[in-house]
Amino acid sequence: VIIEKIKTAHWFLVRPNHWAQAVELAGRKLKPNHDRPELREQARAWAAERAVPVGEALAAVGLVPADGKELPRLTPEFLSEAERRAAGSKVKMGGPGDLDLLYAATSLSGAARVVETGVAYGWSSLAILAGLRAHPDARLVSVDMPYPKMGNEAFVGIVVPADLRARWELVREPDRNGLSKAIRKLGGKVDLCHYDSDKSWFGRQFGYRLMWDALVPGGVFISDDIQDNLAFKELVERKALPFAVTGYAGKFVGILRKPKV
Ligand SMILES: C[S@@+](CC[C@H](N)C(=O)[O-])C[C@H]1O[C@@H](n2cnc3c(N)ncnc32)[C@H](O)[C@@H]1O
Repeated sequence: VIIEKIKTAHWFLVRPNHWAQAVELAGRKLKPNHDRPELREQARAWAAERAVPVGEALAAVGLVPADGKELPRLTPEFLSEAERRAAGSKVKMGGPGDLDLLYAATSLSGAARVVETGVAYGWSSLAILAGLRAHPDARLVSVDMPYPKMGNEAFVGIVVPADLRARWELVREPDRNGLSKAIRKLGGKVDLCHYDSDKSWFGRQFGYRLMWDALVPGGVFISDDIQDNLAFKELVERKALPFAVTGYAGKFVGILRKPKV
């Protein structure tokens, strides 16, 4: 255990742009645990009670297809090509969230500036970039700190095809300070954001706030794995705005929209 701790400390030590994250992680050990099992259980129950199909979740925040049109969906061929690229990775990483929700939310909202945290294989990046295709100037900036010591750097974003990469930028840093950097790259304002990195309650306090503040009126906020702790529930209660929850493979995704003024 001590050797592992020394290896982790060394991993952070040789990466100066990860020091702020390392200090934050150390500090959390002194604070109350907001990810303890009973809070996790409450969060799961809260999300499960509210979960609706993707189409309903989008409609709840005012994202609906034009009259008579079906919900936009990624084609099975597009996804199986991405599966083939994923098979080329030698490292196992976090799996996809709800790609249908992300793809439809991106295309239906007409978003042009998108920020996300947490890339791993890049499933969410793939869905967002595909949803941005119709918009000539649209961009995605993603933030990802590789898993410490796993040596997965070469495979981060592997499922994203070459033809979608021109409008994609990857900030290979922890959310702390990578997320502010990513938002600045988009001019300080974003139309859609997706949170899928540090799943702890403390991580979400930091990331949710930066993303929410950067969202334009009418902007779309999406968070993955909201069953992990009460951070998303607390956010929607604070904002008192229409929101929705959708489920995917036993996990839950939350969506919330900033009011148009
Ligand atoms: C669940 S995976 C992301 C999955 C991805 N969104 C997808 O759909 O394929 C989480 C990713 O977030 C990264 N991560 C974890 N903590 C982070 C932090 N504090 N800052 C930036 N990235 C972080 C992990 O290294 C991992 O690559």
